[in-house]
This record gives sequence, structure tokens and C-alpha cells, in this order.
Amino acid sequence: MKQLQEKILKEGTVLGQGVLKVDRFLTHQVDPQLMAAIGQDFANYFAEEKITKVVTLEASGITPAVFTALSLDVPMIYARKSKSLTLSDELLTSSVYSFTKQVTSDISISRHLLTEEDTVLIIDDFLANGQAAKGLIELCQQAGANVAGLGIVIEKSFQSGRQLLEDAGIHVYSQARIASLDNGEITFVEKETIHG
Ligand code: G4P
Repeated sequence: MKQLQEKILKEGTVLGQGVLKVDRFLTHQVDPQLMAAIGQDFANYFAEEKITKVVTLEASGITPAVFTALSLDVPMIYARKSKSLTLSDELLTSSVYSFTKQVTSDISISRHLLTEEDTVLIIDDFLANGQAAKGLIELCQQAGANVAGLGIVIEKSFQSGRQLLEDAGIHVYSQARIASLDNGEITFVEKETIHG
């Protein structure tokens, strides 16, 4: 997605250890026009899949997920990382290990929100090692729901997430695929664009 690549080059910054900071438009401050375009792009890409729910993980997945759900005209569910007081004990649960943060978190969705009637599109802001997506897929599987695909805003293609998920038979679509963040430069997979 060209508009997204341009935004990443203009406002993204490379931190050490292969981390891209995008808090000016995605993970903290949000650019609603860009998010609307992102949501429409995911909706167009998965238009034939008869999606009934969009599923993501709090916190930063929520913005692209809700705009995608708006474009598809279906509900959006975000898995929680901590237990809510109003969540009953009827939960779908899974553990997600973050290599970045080196912590395991239990994620959950209320069982009554997802059923075997559902066809789910999973949306997330970043794909790195694929553990968050794997956890979300497990929640859908526990509900007996069909996972139609995974939509990612920024994929770090130099990490193993896409491979892990494709090996599990998941259709992965990423709007921006980053080949490298070496030497402070952002290089995309599709187009060899360098940011000095
Ligand atoms: P994985 O889910 O693909 O295995 O990724 P990993 O454990 O490496 O990432 C853990 C968290 O860090 C995730 O957010 C993920 O979105 C985020 N992350 C990974 N790589 C980058 C990066 O290069 N830049 C930024 N900005 N974030 C990255 P999270 O813990 O769920 O955080 P939040 O959504 O609650 O903010």
C-alpha cells in the first residue's frame, strides 16, 4: 500500500534491534484518514471471504481493526490481555509469548462472542514473530470459527512470523512489508526504497 509506505518513510523512525517506531500515526497517535484507507484496503482484499467478525488484540491492533470492520460492516472483537471484571468464566483463552518483551500474557475473548458460524478476519498492527496472531488463531479455533485470513499493517519480513503462519495454512496479507531496518534505513520488500 503506497500511501502507507510513504507515511512510514516520512514519519517512522528506526530504533535499535530491528524496531520501527510508528507512534506518530499508528501505535500511539493515530492518523484517522490513513486508518480509514487501511481499513478499506483490508476490506477490498478480503471482500470475497464472507467475513462475519474482525478479531484483533489490544491495544494497537484496535484502530486498524475497527476501521476494517467499519468498511466490511461487521463487528470487531479485541482479545483482552488482562481479565476484565465483567468477563465471565466462559472464556476462550490462549498464551502469547512476546520475544520483544520476553513475557507471556494470557489473552481471552468471551466465548459467547465467537461461534462456529463465524468467518473471522484477524487484523494486527505488526507481524514480527507471529505469536500474537498464533494466539488469536487459537482462540478462533477453540470457538470452532473459520479463520479466513490475517491482515497485517506492517510486516517485519526479516522475522519469522509469516513463515510460521503460512506453514499453518493461514493466508497472510500485509500492507507494508519491511525487508530490513539495518543501519537505520527502511527497506521494503516490494520496492527497494531507502530512507537515509
Ligand atoms: P509477535 O506477536 O509477532 O510475535 O511479535 P513480538 O512478540 O515481537 O511483539 C510484541 C509486541 O511488540 C506487539 O505489541 C507488537 O505489535 C510489537 N512490535 C513488534 N515489533 C515492533 C516494531 O518494530 N515496532 C513497534 N512499534 N512495535 C512492534 P504489543 O505488545 O501487543 O503492544 P500493544 O499493541 O499493546 O501496544
